[in-house]
Amino acid sequence: MNAYDTIISRRSIRRFHQRPVKLEILKKCANAGRLAPSAANLQPIEYCIVNDKTLCTHLFEALHWAAYIQPKWTPKETERPTAYIVVLIKDTQNPYYERDVGLATENIVLTAEGEGLGSCILCNIERVKIQELCNIPLTLAVDSVIALGYKAETSVVEDLKDSVKYWRDEKDILHVPKRKLEDIIHINKFQ
Ligand SMILES: Cc1cc2nc3c(=O)[nH]c(=O)nc-3n(C[C@H](O)[C@H](O)[C@H](O)COP(=O)(O)O)c2cc1C
Repeated sequence: MNAYDTIISRRSIRRFHQRPVKLEILKKCANAGRLAPSAANLQPIEYCIVNDKTLCTHLFEALHWAAYIQPKWTPKETERPTAYIVVLIKDTQNPYYERDVGLATENIVLTAEGEGLGSCILCNIERVKIQELCNIPLTLAVDSVIALGYKAETSVVEDLKDSVKYWRDEKDILHVPKRKLEDIIHINKFQ
């Protein structure tokens, strides 16, 4: 896949097969984060790769899923992520760290997509719990978690009509409304 095909095929995936992901692939994802652009090249991000089964089980309890899906939904035990990358910040005073995180996490999820993995960036997380579980020193702040694993669901993009809320149809396919290109691009001057 070329870069554009990888970008347009990536969707957030929240259901996974239970086949483990090789550590090498997880390191490759973190390396893609490492090499992302960084404001003033300050590189404030570190990564904690989690693939230990017991730790994954505990980490899962600190995550909140798909807030738009009602009634409250969470992946079943047989469809949980098999690995995670916890994204850590060593200097939250850096005024651009959130931009750096955006770029690095996109690099990670695109690399995962290229490796045939599904992923979901999560910010609705219990940071204190995660800090304790992974024994993360207090000099690093937990920013987000990227859930990873082999895809066990289909998610499709549809044109945004009246709501940004993603939804599941009767076949359990996730539909993600996105604003139409013609509604968001402006050529030379606004009409
Ligand atoms: C910064 C950020 C935080 C997110 N946090 C969560 C989260 O806590 N739980 C979740 O299920 N999805 C989360 N998502 C995934 C979004 O819901 C998803 O990106 C959005 O619905 C668009 O779908 P797509 O990624 O398939 O394009 C987050 C995404 C981003 C970029």
